[in-house]
Amino acid sequence: MCGIVGYIGEKQAAPILLQGLRRLEYRGYDSAGIAILDQGCIHRARSVGRIDNLIDAIGGKQFPGTMGIAHTRWATHGGVTEENAHPHSSCDGSLMLMHNGIIENYRDIKEKLGGEHVFRSETDSEVLAHLIEHHYQLLTGKEGDARLRLSVEAALSHVRGTYGLLVIHKDHPNCIIAARLGSPIAIGINLGEYFIASDPTPMLAHTKNVVFLDDGEIAAVTRSSLDTFTLKDEHIVKCVEQIDWNDEQAEKQGYPHFMLKEIFDQPTVFEDAIRGRYNLAEGTANLGGLNMTPTEMQRVSRIVLIACGTASYAAMVGKYAFERLAGIPTEVDVGSEFRYRDPIIDDRTLVFAISQSGETADTLAALREAKRKGAFVRGIVNVIGSTIARETDGGTYMHAGPELAVASTKAYTNMLAILLLYALQFGRQRRVSLATGQRLLGALREIPRKMQALFEQAPAIEALAKKYASYEHFLYLGRGINVPVALEGSHKLKEISYIHSEAYAAGEMKHGVNALLCPEFPVLAIMTKNQLYDKMRSNVEEVRARKSKVILLVNEGDEQAKELADDVLMVPPTMELLEPLLNTIPLQLFAYYIAVALDRDVDRPRNLAKSVTVE
Ligand code: F6R
Repeated sequence: MCGIVGYIGEKQAAPILLQGLRRLEYRGYDSAGIAILDQGCIHRARSVGRIDNLIDAIGGKQFPGTMGIAHTRWATHGGVTEENAHPHSSCDGSLMLMHNGIIENYRDIKEKLGGEHVFRSETDSEVLAHLIEHHYQLLTGKEGDARLRLSVEAALSHVRGTYGLLVIHKDHPNCIIAARLGSPIAIGINLGEYFIASDPTPMLAHTKNVVFLDDGEIAAVTRSSLDTFTLKDEHIVKCVEQIDWNDEQAEKQGYPHFMLKEIFDQPTVFEDAIRGRYNLAEGTANLGGLNMTPTEMQRVSRIVLIACGTASYAAMVGKYAFERLAGIPTEVDVGSEFRYRDPIIDDRTLVFAISQSGETADTLAALREAKRKGAFVRGIVNVIGSTIARETDGGTYMHAGPELAVASTKAYTNMLAILLLYALQFGRQRRVSLATGQRLLGALREIPRKMQALFEQAPAIEALAKKYASYEHFLYLGRGINVPVALEGSHKLKEISYIHSEAYAAGEMKHGVNALLCPEFPVLAIMTKNQLYDKMRSNVEEVRARKSKVILLVNEGDEQAKELADDVLMVPPTMELLEPLLNTIPLQLFAYYIAVALDRDVDRPRNLAKSVTVE
């Protein structure tokens, strides 16, 4: 949450920073700010609202400098006001700071700094600017940019909490200081220029060579050098990593919203997720990132899938796959709960941390707890170089490309792809036959074509969404492997349309939820032809008997089912384990078109941000 971006080079910084902020807007979008250093002066602009408001705030003013920093905020401490927007400045305005994270002991620091400093915002972040100023004043004997770096290091030694931060100072016209603890910092390298950001997307148009700071590291970036240190001022050498995303992937490419583009990206990125990762002849997957010997794989007695939100619904599908294919007891735990009970973990437990952003604080904390207890911990992550990717002992990138809409779509289907491949890999080692493995892979290879065929229904789904957009409540039902699909469909609807929506295992209805049924509470039921079809059909009959409107998601050609429904969504048939890969897509489109019909801010829903780096 919160996006930070910095630039130092020969080009005018402001346009690069503003473009960078647009790429990071998914991380927070309640206010934004920018500071440019030019000829000994710092020009600052801040505004409440989106980047366009910031551009208006800059107005006709010239911001000519070639270095600067910018921020897009998701408020934690202090309301959404211009004073609380970043950058925050020291008392004398010489130093500007951008911060992503939370300073837990900010009140103590503020008290210690006492009457000597004037605080102008209600934020935790501002105290850092003053604390650095305080140490900067103490370090008068130090020469050059080292003085700024050392004062940041000294200040951070008093801080409890998390930060990704950028600092500039008017007396250091060739230096940006970046530091990280718990909030990501990526530094892009190009000839004579450096880009610093919360993730690599703002720099894709300029460079693919990136250094990722690890926790407890600080960087001094000039136009011609990048020096990295620990917070104890020991010099360290970092590896440069290659990012294989490209800038076009981070554009809307003619779609009205990123979410729609990302829904339509799914056939392509699904192919990217599975390409080269299976062996049809042997009917198995070969995900090398697992980093486990066959003996270690055999020893696994339990799998725990840790994730949050949409990723946790993907994990629920993974549970079905691991249990059915590999016969390994599998649990799904949401990251925010895992470490607050006493999870039973031992050296035969394999934990997967599943996350699009790779930065979700709860998932990260849970994986650290699992590691502490001796589990094998692997990641299923989308963002390259992200913290979860770096802190796991192996794992697999899901290759969904940049996902910029807050509502996750293509990352979800790619999580499913990877989970299914892992389940097959373990399954083939235990009990899945060659023929079953080959059949599953054959069906998996058919998925992109079937996804593509589904999109032909988009206009019909749009019409259906318009018909139902005025309802205030929705109920999603499924059974078996379609329970997580119902949960995900309902999740999508509420987060982007703000319509109240619930999701249940259809068999649970009679234990309480039936009381809600009435004509004003439409039900979207997933009734594809699998082993629970007849059971699901009975549950749908029960719903109809209580006069709720019914939208049925059924397989193409299921004419009989239509008699049960007010409206029908069709999906191509596939193997039961793969159904979520197809069944989720009409639900994504349904939620999307309802949100559009209600004129919601589809890509930037209220109160949310992608990449939830606070607990
Ligand atoms: C839903 C959504 C969130 C995320 C959740 C986990 O559309 O975007 O529920 O799925 O915050 O995020 P990652 O996958 O980045 O860990």
